[in-house]
Amino acid sequence: MRSIRSKITITYVVLALSIVVGVSTILSWQLDSYIKLQLVQDLNRQIDWIRFSLERDTSLTLGQVDSQIRRVAGLENLRITLIAEDGRVIDDSDVPFDQVPSVENHLQRPEVQEALTRPVGSNIRLSATVGRNFLYVAKKTTIEQSGGALKNVAFIRLSMPLEEVVDRINSLRAIIAFAGLAVLIIVVGVSFVVSRRISKPMVQIAKSVEQIRSGNLDTRIEIDTRDEIGSVALAVNELVEKLKTDIAEVKKLQKVRSEFLGNVSHELRTPIFAIQGFIETLLNGAVDDPSVNKAFLEKTKANADRLNALLEDLINISQIESGEMKMSFRYFNVNEFLETVVKDFQEFGKQRKISVSGAFSTASDVEVLGDRDRLRQALNNLIDNAIKYSAPGGRVVVSSDETGGTVRISVADTGVGIAAEHLSRIFERFYRVDKDRSREVGGTGLGLAIVKHIIEAHGSSIEVKSEVGTGSTFSFLLKK
Ligand SMILES: Nc1ncnc2c1ncn2[C@@H]1O[C@H](COP(=O)(O)OP(=O)(O)O)[C@@H](O)[C@H]1O
Ligand SMILES: [Mg+2]
Repeated sequence: MRSIRSKITITYVVLALSIVVGVSTILSWQLDSYIKLQLVQDLNRQIDWIRFSLERDTSLTLGQVDSQIRRVAGLENLRITLIAEDGRVIDDSDVPFDQVPSVENHLQRPEVQEALTRPVGSNIRLSATVGRNFLYVAKKTTIEQSGGALKNVAFIRLSMPLEEVVDRINSLRAIIAFAGLAVLIIVVGVSFVVSRRISKPMVQIAKSVEQIRSGNLDTRIEIDTRDEIGSVALAVNELVEKLKTDIAEVKKLQKVRSEFLGNVSHELRTPIFAIQGFIETLLNGAVDDPSVNKAFLEKTKANADRLNALLEDLINISQIESGEMKMSFRYFNVNEFLETVVKDFQEFGKQRKISVSGAFSTASDVEVLGDRDRLRQALNNLIDNAIKYSAPGGRVVVSSDETGGTVRISVADTGVGIAAEHLSRIFERFYRVDKDRSREVGGTGLGLAIVKHIIEAHGSSIEVKSEVGTGSTFSFLLKK
């Protein structure tokens, strides 16, 4: 994986390099033609100046002109050629005076040809006369002289060795190259800093994410800029927070689940062991002992009943908790309903010497909305507890009261009561205040958990008020 930082740096450098190369190519190319133009103009002015200086002294002989021309040419490092209309060379600073007449005719020289039609003619080429590269500039001009030595001059031509020009261009190119290099170095430096600034938070994010991936969920990305990177950091942090919460939730659920399974197996084991024990004792001879055999069989049956009750409650609760149990809500007459429930417990109450009665202050035609069968199951559990956790002579009252848009249904007893520290826990599965007593009365520890689920499925909640030694009241509201 190539890092963002090197990607940014490479991009910058490639960009800068192409710009620098492009700009310097164009620049040096422009420079070439610019310098040539400058030189041509320069030489053009020199021609004017030479003409002017030759015109000043009007009585010179050709020999005198020649030495003057040589002096000027030497001073300016130029070659000066005076050419007649027909191309004949009249004088040349680079040719010995006595050999001038034998110099080749110059009419066909490109700069001379160009000077015929334009203000100035110029050309670069290898000099046939001196064998070096020269820039030639020619101009059509006459020299006004009374002496007449120069009356035939029609062109003045100047030339300068190009080595000098090339040297000048090259030194300028070197400056351009140097500037380009400097720009490149600056760009590399800047891109280094910029890429670091851009990539630093990303590197930070990558590191944190790697830590999170390896399981450290307490990692937080410490970036609070308001740009895109900042919002990525924020999103990752929120995600991790959520993940952490979810994992905690799952762990909690797993714990609850395994605790529940442990409880279930423990609860199942107790009656099974008891049954095994009684049957073994019976098989080992007690069956023939009339003083104990009936009692043992009754105890066996009680434990089998308990096992059955336990399984039934377990099935109920797992159906409720898995959402398998469907509720069907209907309106039904609340007093009629409670009357039947109370009636069904008369017999059981009588056995325990506890009076079970109804006290309905709701109008006889009031209807409530709910699942009748499920509510019946909840009330059965509540009344069952009220009877079981009361001493003989106690009273259980099932009542209904109208409270605006709802009806409050309560089951009150005059039983043992529940201490405050247990009140919040009695609705947990398998939670009992007094295990032995619960077992004695055939409890499963699941009754109130089922009640809670059923009442909450009605959009209500179960409330309990209790005082140890005085009694307890469980109540809930139903919509009219
Ligand atoms: N009316 C009540 N009076 C006193 N204690 C009660 C009453 N109802 C429930 N409890 C307490 O709450 C516990 C949980 O009740 P429940 O879930 O019905 O289980 P179980 O009755 O099978 O023990 C009971 O063991 C008991 O200690
Ligand atoms: Mg119970």
